[in-house]
Formats: sequence, structure tokens, C-alpha cells
Amino acid sequence: MPTRPVPRREFLEKCITGGFLVGAAAVSQTRLFAAYNEAVQKAAKPTPPEVLGPFFKKGAPNQTNLRVAGEPGLPLAISGRILDARGEPVHDAKVELWHADHRGIYDVHGFRYRSKLALGNATQYRVETIMPGHYPSRPVQHVHYLITAPGCKPLITQLYFATDPYFDGDPDRNFAKGGVVANRECVRPVMLLDENTAPRTAVTFDLVLEKA
Ligand SMILES: [Fe+2]
Repeated sequence: MPTRPVPRREFLEKCITGGFLVGAAAVSQTRLFAAYNEAVQKAAKPTPPEVLGPFFKKGAPNQTNLRVAGEPGLPLAISGRILDARGEPVHDAKVELWHADHRGIYDVHGFRYRSKLALGNATQYRVETIMPGHYPSRPVQHVHYLITAPGCKPLITQLYFATDPYFDGDPDRNFAKGGVVANRECVRPVMLLDENTAPRTAVTFDLVLEKA
């Protein structure tokens, strides 16, 4: 049975956590613990899953600009890294995202505000879009995600906005109100840019995948 080469840091971690470090001549214990601590600090909690919802639609184009000329809506840039739970960047991810327009209406006939990004060697994503509206059956602004990558479990999740009036200014206390949002981690701060000229917003949302 073929064996895969073990990366250096993984090997060091296994030595330490396995309790069988016995004084490697070429590597001091200080360096080993430094490597261990670096790995611990880089480690990331997997992004919690959220429901897929009824408006997923296959076949979205690979597009980073989702804004529609002439359509109203507060401009929003969403960006983030694709990581595994060790904090390492993940390559070849496909990030699919979709959301409602400013009125809270999904495009079920076309692909407005829908994208399937094929990242290839890039390990970060970014889209330019608008802040989604509220819709009556799910009165929280949100963006749906479906992420796949080789060697990782598929992730279905959602992004929410800490500025959403639904949270009454206190997402820590109110994120679970009405049972709509399952995970506080998915409620992200919103940066308001160029307040005095052309208002626009930006949010970062890293996507941390579990190994398959
Ligand atoms: Fe939705």
C-alpha cells in the first residue's frame, strides 16, 4: 500500500502530541514547540453548516461582479480565504454563492446574484454584489454558500450581517432570535466605506473546510 510523504510540521506535531519526542539531534525542543505553537495558532474552527434553502439553482456562471447596472442596492464586497482546519490554504475550491436582491426576491429564472467561482490555484475569493434584502419567510439578510474542494467535505453554509436590523444592534444576544440563524460565527461585521461620498460595504467571511 503506498504511503504519502508526511510534511515536516505534521511530523513534528505528531512527535510532540504522541509523546514520543526523544531529543532529535538536529532540531531543538524549542524549535519543535515553536512549530507546534505555530500550528495551533493557525488552526481554524470549521465554518458551521447552515441550511441550503429552497432557492439553490445549478448552473450559475463563474462571475465575480454580481452587480446589475441600473439595479438599486447598497454595494457590498464579500471576500475571504479558503482554509482547512489546520489553517492551511485550500486549492481548487469551487465557491458557489447566491442571494436575494435588495427587495428580498431571488432570481429563479436567471442567474442574477448567483455565482459559482472556480478558484483554481487561488485560495481566496472575492465578489462585488449588493446587500441582500429581507424576505418575509426568512427575515434576516443572508448569502447562501456551497463550497467543494478536493480532499475536503462539502460545506453548505450562510453569511449573515451584524448590521442587520433584525439583530437589534446586538447580534451576540439576538443572533438566535426566531431560530433563523444557527451559528453566531456566521454573523460577520460589516465595514461601511466612503460614508460621505458613495456608501459601500465590505465583509470578510473565511470558509474553513473539514478534511474528507
Ligand atoms: Fe435564502
